Amino acid sequence: MRKVYMDNGATSYPKAPGVGEAMADYILNVGCNIGRGGYSEAYDAAALVLETREQVNRLVNGPGARNVIFTPGSTHSLNYLIKGLLRPGDKVVTSPMEHNSVLRPLTQLEAEGVEVAYFPCNDKGELLLDQAGALITADTAAVILTHASNVCGTVMPLAQVGELCRARGVPFLVDASQTAGAVEIDMAAMHIDGIGFPGHKGLLGPQGIGLMVLTDELARRLTPLVSGGTGSFSHELTVPEVLPDRFEAGTLNLPGVYGLHAALSFLEQEGAPLREREHQIACRLWEKFKALEPRGIRVVGTDNLDMHTGVVSIHFLHADDGEMAFRLEQEFGIDTRCGLHCAPLAHKALGTFPQGTVRFSIGPFTTEEEVDYTVDAVAKLLAETQGE
Ligand code: ALA
Repeated sequence: MRKVYMDNGATSYPKAPGVGEAMADYILNVGCNIGRGGYSEAYDAAALVLETREQVNRLVNGPGARNVIFTPGSTHSLNYLIKGLLRPGDKVVTSPMEHNSVLRPLTQLEAEGVEVAYFPCNDKGELLLDQAGALITADTAAVILTHASNVCGTVMPLAQVGELCRARGVPFLVDASQTAGAVEIDMAAMHIDGIGFPGHKGLLGPQGIGLMVLTDELARRLTPLVSGGTGSFSHELTVPEVLPDRFEAGTLNLPGVYGLHAALSFLEQEGAPLREREHQIACRLWEKFKALEPRGIRVVGTDNLDMHTGVVSIHFLHADDGEMAFRLEQEFGIDTRCGLHCAPLAHKALGTFPQGTVRFSIGPFTTEEEVDYTVDAVAKLLAETQGE
């Protein structure tokens, strides 16, 4: 049976050309650490690591290459930002569209006296901007917002929220897990102080490597959650002040950096047309599912397709979503993710809690033909379950 991969929201597949080869090259031919050894292989590897920081910085129009921190993944990046910044008594504002990688750290901090307020969102996952401003005040310790929902693909108005934060002097933290590499990000123009994202989703790199990019000002206020050897300032027992060392204790995931470097080199060459194409394919999937709505599904999320990622979620009105996802895989070879997608409050806002949705998430290599095959498969299941 053919396979159609519709779970790029969980991780991208295939990866960018050259990623596997670059990782194997590091393991087979390079092998050394950086920042510790005074020999030429170590300097060459360090140069590639710096080049990768420069690529990431260009991608998000960040404050500088040394402000790019390698982490084990987006969840770690968001924990470093959230737990490193907030203190008991602080007030933060976030949205119900967040993933548990934001909600769980915040819930832990609530138990320590951090107050959490939520922006209002409608049942399409759209943030109600006209009511949002009132929640951001001069004593807000941070605003934490996802760039796009991993459940329904609705993109948040980062630039406008960033503007509100800047006007009130409030740090703006962003979860770009679903967008980095696939949707334009401009930290300077959007007034973003700190951002976290993974290497393995829109960046088309490997798992186990993520990024945190932060301004110098935020870095000064952030407590490093992990401390240890950095290969620098070894005579001191305190954590170095300089970036990236302050937030990068221990040996880096160098196979991961080599893979990410290859992925980012590919995206720098091909990224713009790929993003455009991915958006067109996402619109095709959304519109074709929308046409099936009268036959027994609800397509969840915004209908403003300019503010939509490649994630499209549907709910079967007269059948069990879990069973439908299972049959899509078993009978048609289509891989999806169903359930709550680690985002329970998003499903509550969308009106799909507790049953969840079946999520189809395309990537830059998804074809029109795969979209048509997928929609046909859903139509066949609908015909059967409705007894058409
Ligand atoms: N957060 C990832 C997803 O949405 C894993 O599937």
